[in-house]
Amino acid sequence: MTLLLDEIALATARLAEAGVESPRADAELIAAHVHHVKRGELHTVPDSAFDATFWADIARRANREPLQHIIGHAYFRYLELSVGPGVFVPRPETEVMTGWAIDRLRSMDVAEPVAVDLGTGSGAIALSIAQEVPRARVHAVEADPLARGWAERNITQYVDSYTAGRVLLHAGDFMRGLPGLPSDLAALAGTVDLVVSNPPYIPVGSEVPPEVGEYDPPAALWSGADGLDAMRAVERLARQLLRPGGLVAVEHGWQQGAAVYWIFSEEAGWRDTRNNRDLANRDRFVTAALP
Ligand SMILES: C[S@@+](CC[C@H](N)C(=O)[O-])C[C@H]1O[C@@H](n2cnc3c(N)ncnc32)[C@H](O)[C@@H]1O
Repeated sequence: MTLLLDEIALATARLAEAGVESPRADAELIAAHVHHVKRGELHTVPDSAFDATFWADIARRANREPLQHIIGHAYFRYLELSVGPGVFVPRPETEVMTGWAIDRLRSMDVAEPVAVDLGTGSGAIALSIAQEVPRARVHAVEADPLARGWAERNITQYVDSYTAGRVLLHAGDFMRGLPGLPSDLAALAGTVDLVVSNPPYIPVGSEVPPEVGEYDPPAALWSGADGLDAMRAVERLARQLLRPGGLVAVEHGWQQGAAVYWIFSEEAGWRDTRNNRDLANRDRFVTAALP
């Protein structure tokens, strides 16, 4: 056993005591970050290279600061995104919905499909689409200037000859419908191929873990008494943006599947409305097509 592996074992116990959900994984990822090695290489760090700042970072995690804020990035599909204060940390469940959008865009009989990501946060969904769908053009909309700063940074990091010019970041407010979008984006009304969104969907007053309540921005979380205010706005705006037959995918809380299905299928008359599950096999996103 090396010194670092001993320290990781102690840190794991400390994080478990603090109520951290995956204490061993978090202790190892922090150790890897501090010592500039991959997680699988921790055993190669010599005792002489042990860096005591490891314990400062473990203390932050024990205070329930998100792991991703401590190590400065979050993994999302094939991306390593910069994250920190002011932006929502992208979650694995959103990768599944993004995969659905990517598959549909790839199989569309459209030369240069156009997608819109409403509430882009770090840019996770929009950037994944640009990276994984040849020729797709993605408009990423975000109201919060701090979050937009992070999205801009991530988009810049991934600009290369393949994605260049295919992700466009816009300041915009999806709650206000087309007038809330910049005029060049609003002008696409009726022509967009796919709208995707992971809107805020937590009912105001719900209990959330400290990592969420104290670190994710409030605008990314709360959405009215039933958590569905933003969902209804996204449904209305998607209906205006999409071409006939265009597709929508929206993420929701695991208990909201029936309510979101109802909004799309019964209240607004979308066709092919479906509930879809996440990796934990819970209802997580609704997909539908504009008639
Ligand atoms: C749950 S986060 C999702 C972020 C990112 N799409 C992801 O999946 O990681 C919701 C995002 O929507 C943004 N947002 C909330 N209300 C908005 C509005 N009215 N117009 C535009 N963006 C909004 C928030 O600032 C936040 O970045």
